Amino acid sequence: MASLQTNFLGIKSPNPFWLASAPPTDKKYNVHRAYEAGWGGAVWKTLGDQIRNVSSRYGSVDYYGQKVMGLNNIELISDRPLDVNLKEIREVVREWPDRATIVSLMACTERDAWHELVKKTQDTGCHGFELNFGCPHGMSERGMGSAVGQDPEIARMITEWVMEVAQIPVIVKLTPNVHSVVPTGRAVVEAGCNALSLINTIQSVMGVNLDTFVPEPNVGGQSAFGGYCGPAVKPIALKMLTTITQDPLTARVPVSGIGGVSTWRDAAEFILLGSTSVQVCTAAMKYGFRIIRDLCDGLSHWMDEKGFKTLDDFRGKSVRTLVRWEELDLNFHIVANINQETCIHCGLCYIACEDTSHQSIRMTRGMPHNKYEIIEPECVGCNLCKLMCPVEGCITMVERRKGDRLTWAEHQKLGMPLDANDPRPYIPDPNIPTEAGSTDPGRYSR
Ligand SMILES: Cc1cc2nc3c(=O)[nH]c(=O)nc-3n(C[C@H](O)[C@H](O)[C@H](O)COP(=O)(O)O)c2cc1C
Ligand code: SF4
Ligand code: SF4
Repeated sequence: MASLQTNFLGIKSPNPFWLASAPPTDKKYNVHRAYEAGWGGAVWKTLGDQIRNVSSRYGSVDYYGQKVMGLNNIELISDRPLDVNLKEIREVVREWPDRATIVSLMACTERDAWHELVKKTQDTGCHGFELNFGCPHGMSERGMGSAVGQDPEIARMITEWVMEVAQIPVIVKLTPNVHSVVPTGRAVVEAGCNALSLINTIQSVMGVNLDTFVPEPNVGGQSAFGGYCGPAVKPIALKMLTTITQDPLTARVPVSGIGGVSTWRDAAEFILLGSTSVQVCTAAMKYGFRIIRDLCDGLSHWMDEKGFKTLDDFRGKSVRTLVRWEELDLNFHIVANINQETCIHCGLCYIACEDTSHQSIRMTRGMPHNKYEIIEPECVGCNLCKLMCPVEGCITMVERRKGDRLTWAEHQKLGMPLDANDPRPYIPDPNIPTEAGSTDPGRYSR
């Protein structure tokens, strides 16, 4: 059976699944039970100055009967006394030496405050720190959390302060509330942090309650912008992760991937895009600690199926498959194909293509049902009908390559006309070699 053993900067855990810094990790009772259930690690709920929370704190987006597609919160960092948290962290580390116990930290932008918090926490024997430069509500209004993550120079400065006293690995957790996570990622890596994690929550409004006219969470008739997480944010998290694992500077450090991980499949995707460990919050809040069994079983079975013995065998394998648009092959062409045997004649593909795509599906009226067929020459291979079809595998996309590989970058370099019927003559530049070393325009049929 494949091994899920994880080594994150020398911090070992039996599997790559860590609970993210949040309510599931805010006390020994929780973390102890999570470790009993099998979680590989936990990032303790952020420690910092004592704060007060409001009620209520959460809102959710439910989508067509599916509860909590996205979760939003306006909760602050740990509201428990620091001494109590430190005592419990010490106990957990002693009782569970084989798990990765990381502690999330947040202090005001003062060198002494960070030094004091790091030193006090380090004394617990915890295995690493995660600096919370990402919380987008409440703390950010006080100049902490995402206010730090949004300013690469402040993030750099605080990271340097932390590195002056930290004797254990330091992970910086990035905020997604920026145009790009790379500038802050680069700044903190240059400042000497040992790893990155992302994403924290995305600032959001969950919608307005049409009876009270107040968005959720409703705090006595008012609300505030909150942090969005859960399955809905996974695509955004994956994109941000990839920008970090592709950048030559930030790619030097390991990454803990976070954002919408609910199943082993999600975790496999984060690892394929370069994560060393993955963190989970919303899924644990929705289903409880028991999901760890499915996460581990599913991931190791898939690894067995694919012939991967360790996580290193596939970590980052997909990073290079994401390229700039101009590097995609213009001559790769697919068309839809409908399997008439499995089609249930619902017509959803027809409506989608007819109203919003390329009118490439022919409907022939009949009894007891209509027939739907692809008009191949019209099909641009957009995938829409396949995505809309309710029958798995009924619509497949079939390759109809149009010529040799040709990218937009090459297309421009060669000065080729946009339109195949363009009457302007094509004059190849002999000084510009093509991929195959040929400037023969005949190679490129469109
Ligand atoms: C209620 C709640 C409280 C959170 N508190 C913290 C926190 O104290 N520190 C922190 O770094 N992230 C905090 N987060 C963010 C999570 O650690 C995580 O980054 C985010 O939820 C995305 O993961 P998910 O999609 O698996 O939930 C919190 C999230 C939630 C839902
Ligand atoms: S792939 Fe796009 S263009 Fe082709 S039939 Fe389907 S929806 Fe229409
Ligand atoms: S959406 Fe799928 S099942 Fe429905 S008509 Fe089209 S091919 Fe058939």
